[in-house]
Amino acid sequence: MNETKGKPRILLLEDDFALAEVMRELFAEMGAVTEAVPSISGAVKALRSFSPDVIVIDLRLADGNGIDFVEYVRQREEGRAIPIIAVSAVADKSVISSARRKGVDEYLVKPFHPAELLAIIRNHLQRQKAIAKLASREAHIQTVKMLTNVMEARSKYRRGHSERVRRYAKILGEALGWSEEDMVFLEFGALLHDIGKIQIPIEILEKPGPLTPEERALIETHPQAGAEMLREVDHLKPVIPYVLYHHERCNGSGYPFHLPCKEIPPEGRLIAIVDSYDAMVSNRPYRAAKLKEVALAELMRDAGVLYDEGMVRVFVEVMQGDVLNSHDKTDNDSR
Ligand SMILES: [Fe+2]
Repeated sequence: MNETKGKPRILLLEDDFALAEVMRELFAEMGAVTEAVPSISGAVKALRSFSPDVIVIDLRLADGNGIDFVEYVRQREEGRAIPIIAVSAVADKSVISSARRKGVDEYLVKPFHPAELLAIIRNHLQRQKAIAKLASREAHIQTVKMLTNVMEARSKYRRGHSERVRRYAKILGEALGWSEEDMVFLEFGALLHDIGKIQIPIEILEKPGPLTPEERALIETHPQAGAEMLREVDHLKPVIPYVLYHHERCNGSGYPFHLPCKEIPPEGRLIAIVDSYDAMVSNRPYRAAKLKEVALAELMRDAGVLYDEGMVRVFVEVMQGDVLNSHDKTDNDSR
């Protein structure tokens, strides 16, 4: 049983045994496991017991029309998203469009080239994988968002900050050409960068006047406190650099380690820019929000001193672009 684990599963409904055997071998070459059934009743059983990733179906069968099975699959919860590829000797256009209407995704007219069928199956499997990955990432993001919302609910000044930082971070990461994998962690890192602040009393976070040295020291524990929290969660460990280094500054004036630019991981350098930007354009207990242009000019002024010079340049460029103006609009509207 274990030999088939992780392999794509193809349910083949074909009543020509010789052809079914040829197709089974063909699918085996691409690493798939095939359950071949000659009848609709067999296919109905296999849909449940085999849970296929893809269904390949001959429409003209000894015990009926394959389309009946397609309709059956589409009515089932578990069958709604399974790609169905029909093979048939019938090339009639109205038959093809009716099959599509009833739920067939692809229609191949016999005789077809095996490579064509394999390419179609591969394509569907890849898309399914990508969708599954996205769906689980989105589910995790939702959970993490809830966590940051709970934290930010304590303070009207913080509300929405993590979500905006996530948006700016995504824009900058994409503009920098970061890989898809990096972008996954970046989103979590941006959302969670201030999670350690949960340990700081709200009176200190929202103090309108200047902080005492003790209060400042307490606030400066939040990157390490947040990193500690994430160390307990296996799949979030790659996110730690975003949390731990987002207050480091290029000239060594940051915290907690006072690192110089070249020793600050890129994750920390990136969040430093977008976090500071959002802080500048938001109201704070001790000052009003700055205009976007003023904030960008300030980032430029501090490029190479506080922030990574190259990253600031890319950020300012992209923020001044048209696409970004519409993002900002959404932000302001939601505030
Ligand atoms: Fe922070």
